[in-house]
Amino acid sequence: MAYRSIILGIESSCDDTSAAVIADGVKLSNVTANQAIHEKYGGVVPELAGRAHQKNIVPVVDVALKEAGISPAELTAIGYTRGPGLMGSLLVGGSFAHGLSLGLNIPLIEVNHMQGHVLAHFIKEKKEDARIPQFPFLCLTVSGGHTQILKVNGYFDLEVLGETQDDAAGEAFDKGAKIMGLPYPGGPHIDRLATEGNPNAFDLPVSNMPGLTFSFSGLKTAFLYLIQKGVKANPHFIQENQADLAASLQAAILKMLLAKLKRAAKETRISTIAIAGGVSANRGLRKTLEQQAQKSGWELFIPSFEYCTDNAAMIAMTAYLKYESGDFETGYLPPLARLKL
Ligand code: KG4
Ligand code: ZN
Repeated sequence: MAYRSIILGIESSCDDTSAAVIADGVKLSNVTANQAIHEKYGGVVPELAGRAHQKNIVPVVDVALKEAGISPAELTAIGYTRGPGLMGSLLVGGSFAHGLSLGLNIPLIEVNHMQGHVLAHFIKEKKEDARIPQFPFLCLTVSGGHTQILKVNGYFDLEVLGETQDDAAGEAFDKGAKIMGLPYPGGPHIDRLATEGNPNAFDLPVSNMPGLTFSFSGLKTAFLYLIQKGVKANPHFIQENQADLAASLQAAILKMLLAKLKRAAKETRISTIAIAGGVSANRGLRKTLEQQAQKSGWELFIPSFEYCTDNAAMIAMTAYLKYESGDFETGYLPPLARLKL
């Protein structure tokens, strides 16, 4: 089949090495290698992440091209994550993309990782897929490094309406899980345990920041004290209450996310609502939003699990939209650990 544009996307901002091929907006492949090495350290070790990316990048790109049935010579452009992320990790994907674009003599398109998470909503599985959010829509972007409510006016017009002043929602999950002795990343473990627990078992504080500002640090401290006190009285406190602790922690995080999202919808009078980022994989959050959407008449967009956590399909999709708009810089730009939207 002849395509107008075939884009290879490369994502290496944190601890996932991923490559994907998007042809005319349709995903042909999306391959990710996770790095199990960080589990035993309780968090991502930047130096180890960079080395693992170096090991993974060639095979991951190779498999992504093979799965897509595309040869390197057929590629139109390469999109890569410029930031935000870990410098050593960004450098690996960025340098590889740079080298490949020079070798193939095709444009290189820089992509902001957080913009990628949002624009994942436009990836098509098949050419006929038509359900996409209409502009303007609100996007709750919740990952390991970010918690923001965005007003998305267009593909490249993203307005930050509110964000966290301390921890990100993903960090609140991960730090809570760490306090409970669960492996990194803790979000999926809390999600799993929470399905069996009582969300009202423990009373945890829900911050009430002004406007659309989030804060999760108070919750983390309260959770730590709750566990320290519990363990002092009963050394088996965590094991005996694992599900209830997870459910209560998750419920407090979700309450804060939902309160701000409802406020943003009310203030902007926008009822097209999307979520993005790793935490959008949380089943409790997905269910809570579905219920709220029914109540408030929201048109809700929840990404499939494949596009919630870090993946290169969202990077390829963003690069594709940039390529099609003709508004992009070609050539290599150095990574930026703190790239803003
Ligand atoms: O978007 P992402 O893969 O990487 C960043 O850009 O940060 O997000 C990773 C975050 C981690 O904090 C992880 O614990 C969280 O997303 N996460 C979840 C779930 N799956 C991933 N948090 C809650 N429930 C989940 N099912
Ligand atoms: Zn991410």
